[in-house]
Amino acid sequence: MRALLGWRFLPITGSPTAMPIVCDGIHLALTCEEAVQRNLERDLVRTLFEPCARDLVARAHLTQQTRVLDHACGTGVVARMVRAAVPEIGPIVGIDPMTEALEVAAEAAPQEKWIRGEAEALPFGDDRFDVLLCQHSLQHFYSRATALAQVKRVLAPGGRAWFSVWSQLEDNPGYVAIREALAGIDETRAMAEGIAPGFWDAGPAQLVHELESAGLEDVSCNTIKLPAVFASADELPSQWLACSIRICRRRRSGELPSDVLQEFVARASEALGRYRTAGGEVEVPMTVHVVTGTA
Ligand SMILES: C[S@@+](CC[C@H](N)C(=O)[O-])C[C@H]1O[C@@H](n2cnc3c(N)ncnc32)[C@H](O)[C@@H]1O
Repeated sequence: MRALLGWRFLPITGSPTAMPIVCDGIHLALTCEEAVQRNLERDLVRTLFEPCARDLVARAHLTQQTRVLDHACGTGVVARMVRAAVPEIGPIVGIDPMTEALEVAAEAAPQEKWIRGEAEALPFGDDRFDVLLCQHSLQHFYSRATALAQVKRVLAPGGRAWFSVWSQLEDNPGYVAIREALAGIDETRAMAEGIAPGFWDAGPAQLVHELESAGLEDVSCNTIKLPAVFASADELPSQWLACSIRICRRRRSGELPSDVLQEFVARASEALGRYRTAGGEVEVPMTVHVVTGTA
C-alpha cells in the first residue's frame, strides 16, 4: 500500500519537458505515456514479463552468431534477456512503434539497436534475421496476417520465429482480480472490459493456424505455466495502476480520485490473498502460449 499512499495527495502536473518527479518511485511529471513506460519497466516488467522473456530466450537456443530481432520490444526486456544469455552476441535489434518505450529500452541497453516501426511494415530487408522473438504483442497487432507475412520475409530461410501470448484471461487470475475489482466500482466499471483484449482467447490451434497461413513451417505451440511472484497481495494491482495509460489519463483529468484507486487496490488484493505462500509472498500463476515456426 505504501506506493499508493505515497502519491495519494500529489497532483499530476508537468509537461513533456518537465523534470521527472519521482514519489515513492512513481514518475509523475512526465507525459502520461512516458511515465507509464518507466513505471512498467520498473514494476510489471520485472514481475510479469521478465520470467516469460527468460523462458522464451532459453527456447531459442541462440549462439554468438545468431541475428536476433526483439519484435514489438516495448522497453526491451527480451533483448536484455538475450544479452544476459549470450553476452558475446552481436547487437540485438529491437523494434516498436512507441517512442517512449524505445527511450526506456535505449537507456537500459544502449549497445543494442532500437528502431521505431510497426509490425505490419517492418523496415528491414529480406532474410535479415535468424531468430525473431515476440513477447505478448501478437494479440495487439492491427493486422496479424500482414505482420506474420512480414515475419516470414525478414527471417532468413530456416530462421525461426517465437511468439508468446498470455492465454485466455480466465487462466490468468492476477488479471481476473484486476478486472473484477474494476467492475465492482462505479467509476472504473467501464474499464473492466478493456482487460480481456490483452489476452489470447482463441486457443493454441488458432495460433498454429495463423502462423501456417503465413507460410511458416514446422509450427508448434506449447502452453506453459509460470509463476509471477509479488512481495504482497497489493503489489500487482498497485503496479498495474501505475502502468495503465487509461488510469494515468483519467487521474490527470481528475476523474479518478484517490479513494477510488484505494478501493480498487483493496478489492484486487483481497482476491489475490489466496495465492499467499508459506513464506508470505504472493505467487500468482500465469498461463502463456508459446508458438514457433520456421521461415
Ligand atoms: C504488452 S507490450 C509487450 C512489450 C515487450 N515485448 C515486452 O515483453 O515487454 C505490447 C507491445 O506491442 C507493441 N505494439 C502494439 N501494436 C503494434 C504494432 N502494430 N506493431 C508493432 N508493435 C506493436 C506496443 O507498442 C507494445 O510495446
